[in-house]
Amino acid sequence: MIEIQNVSKRFDSVSGEVHALRQVSLSVEKGDIFGVVGFSGAGKSTLVRLVNLLERPSEGRVLVDGTDITTLSNQDLRKLRKNIGMIFQQFNLLQSKSVFQNIAAPLILNKVPKKEIERRVKELLQFVELEDKIHTNVSRLSGGQKQRVGIARALATNPSILLCDEATSALDPKTTDSILELLKKINRELNVTILLITHEMNVICNVCNKVAVMDGGRVLEQGTVLEVFGNPQHKITKSFVKTVINDSIPKSLALEILNDQRENRIFRLRFQGNTAGKPLLYRISAEYHMENSILFATVCELQGIVFSVMIVQVFGSREKVDEVQKFIEDSGVYVEVLTLNRGQEDHND
Ligand SMILES: Nc1ncnc2c1ncn2[C@@H]1O[C@H](COP(=O)(O)OP(=O)(O)O)[C@@H](O)[C@H]1O
Ligand SMILES: [Mg+2]
Repeated sequence: MIEIQNVSKRFDSVSGEVHALRQVSLSVEKGDIFGVVGFSGAGKSTLVRLVNLLERPSEGRVLVDGTDITTLSNQDLRKLRKNIGMIFQQFNLLQSKSVFQNIAAPLILNKVPKKEIERRVKELLQFVELEDKIHTNVSRLSGGQKQRVGIARALATNPSILLCDEATSALDPKTTDSILELLKKINRELNVTILLITHEMNVICNVCNKVAVMDGGRVLEQGTVLEVFGNPQHKITKSFVKTVINDSIPKSLALEILNDQRENRIFRLRFQGNTAGKPLLYRISAEYHMENSILFATVCELQGIVFSVMIVQVFGSREKVDEVQKFIEDSGVYVEVLTLNRGQEDHND
């Protein structure tokens, strides 16, 4: 539905050229809630603004429903924008206007008859659960209510794509959850494909089926949320995963481990499904006759699938531990070897 192909974007600034995007490719399919996560300055806003051509690529192509949008005439570009709604962190509402006037604005722009505008605004307000605020000035609304108005306005022209630029970043956690629920409802009930960008991992884990991780204008990795966060490859991805799943050895325990003189190796294992780890550890004891202990274990749920991280210490000679490591790798479990160094016990990544 949305194809970004080898796009680079450069800006001229007073301090020289800025490479906001470098050879970015990604593909959003119909029905996806596709999340792009990255720290500030990663290039996320620039990326999402390509899709409705608020930014033009310096190189590469942006396809929406198979059409290269950079080649569209002004008239076709207006049509495209009608089909793509957008919401923002700061809501971007007309502050001195009422809820009704804000939501009606894109309809007036599209020359919808007055009666139809009234019907549509009421319908939208019902959908975002804000019917009683129809004549309220938006400056009197809470952040969450303002974003609901922003969403209603974005949906006014019945778009099939919704772009969200940090749409929940100015909201408290509880309001964030309610807006995320609304986004899921939009995706499910109105069949709207959503491309959202955020610096918050919990947003991705809550609503997205796919994710791309960005840093320095590049996409580091992308795939289903389960693939990417189940087996993160890049340091940045790992640090994002850490914000929702703590997978480090507690510091006090790390000290104890360092003081243990016996030969050993520490593995971080990642499983999908909550029982997958048990037979593995049992077999290390039963078949390899090696002592092992669980140093740390945690579970969380991603898209209804239980996801666990276990840190296991296996005692034995280097050769025997090599054998066990091969056995774990062959079993299909994601495994990493952890090295602890004195003085940096808390950096066990
Ligand atoms: N219009 C612009 N002119 C100059 N530099 C820009 C412009 N827009 C974005 N940038 C720069 O591009 C980089 C990526 O910005 P942005 O896409 O806003 O990142 P993010 O949304 O991930 O925080 C940053 O270094 C930013 O300063
Ligand atoms: Mg941004």
